[in-house]
Amino acid sequence: MKTLVITSLLAMWLVAAVAWTSASRVIARSLPDKDLNGYISDHSESRRDVREAPLEDETPMSPIAGGNGTDLPTCLLCVCLTGSVYCEEVLPLMTSVPTLPKETAYLYARFNMIEKIRNGDFADIVTLKRIDLTGNQISEIEDGAFSKLTLLEDLNLSENRLVKLPMLPDKLTYFNANNNHLKTRGVKANAFKKMTKLRNLLLADNRLEAVPFIPDSVRIVHLQNNNITEVNVNTFCKSNDTYYLRPSLSEVRLDGNPVVLSKYHDSFTCMNVLPVGKYR
Ligand SMILES: *[C@@H]1O[C@H](CO)[C@@H](O)[C@H](O)[C@H]1NC(C)=O
Ligand SMILES: *[C@@H]1O[C@H](CO)[C@@H](O)[C@H](O)[C@H]1NC(C)=O
Ligand SMILES: *[C@@H]1O[C@H](CO)[C@@H](O)[C@H](O)[C@H]1NC(C)=O
Ligand SMILES: *[C@@H]1O[C@H](CO)[C@@H](O)[C@H](O)[C@H]1NC(C)=O
Repeated sequence: MKTLVITSLLAMWLVAAVAWTSASRVIARSLPDKDLNGYISDHSESRRDVREAPLEDETPMSPIAGGNGTDLPTCLLCVCLTGSVYCEEVLPLMTSVPTLPKETAYLYARFNMIEKIRNGDFADIVTLKRIDLTGNQISEIEDGAFSKLTLLEDLNLSENRLVKLPMLPDKLTYFNANNNHLKTRGVKANAFKKMTKLRNLLLADNRLEAVPFIPDSVRIVHLQNNNITEVNVNTFCKSNDTYYLRPSLSEVRLDGNPVVLSKYHDSFTCMNVLPVGKYR
């Protein structure tokens, strides 16, 4: 009996303690330190001592990953606004993806010197919706680097040194790999096949010799300035389905390629617009 009383008292005390600590945490967060009265202030101090790790977890700043010669937190080097991180032309030179605050949705890391994207770089940041890595020195992306980012819609890898593409998430609506060194064998024929929401497929200024599968949803295809020598009925249309139409496709650029499009006049019958390119 005595044990039962003690146990229930203990339980009540615990409930009260938990309620109090979470309340004071909310207060501590919503008020600057100097406005807090002594008690709450002291209380949150001691909490900080006791529960260092979880609190650190919640702070928006984290050290830069693989930072060379610098351990400055990302949000001192970059500008962090709710959900967005802007790291453009950062000095000292940024050669790898910085550690991102949790729940980052938009990352702009344009015009830095990032060389490689590793599987771990975005692994914990499944909230990402847009990644812009335009104008870096990226020559390698580990195959799983983007594959877990199920919310990712916009991916801009233009102006880098990629020879091949990694696995890409299916929900992309915008994919830009213009101005790289992409080779045909680095872009699997079915690399974009499962992307049923893809609207912009931008692969201009590369070294491609073949056109990859283009999903029905796509509106704009840029393949200018590659090394494409031929197309066929199945490139845009379907050889076994004469009723197939592609109403969404409104811009196809094949200029700056060796292919002479007039030789393939039966290859564009499903389209509302002819590709831009060489016709004689
Ligand atoms: C950091 O950069 C210096 C040159 O500025 C280089 O010698 C060194 O190897 C780099 N260290 C790392 C860890 O990348
Ligand atoms: C991607 O980068 C290119 C090159 O800087 C730029 O023109 C384009 O607007 C970018 N796309 C998006 C969606 O930001
Ligand atoms: C273009 O492709 C042909 C093969 O179709 C190849 O011989 C040639 O070297 C390529 N040109 C460039 C600039 O890669
Ligand atoms: C055309 O061929 C593809 C496979 O190449 C097949 O999936 C599709 O069902 C065929 N369509 C018709 C209308 O036969």
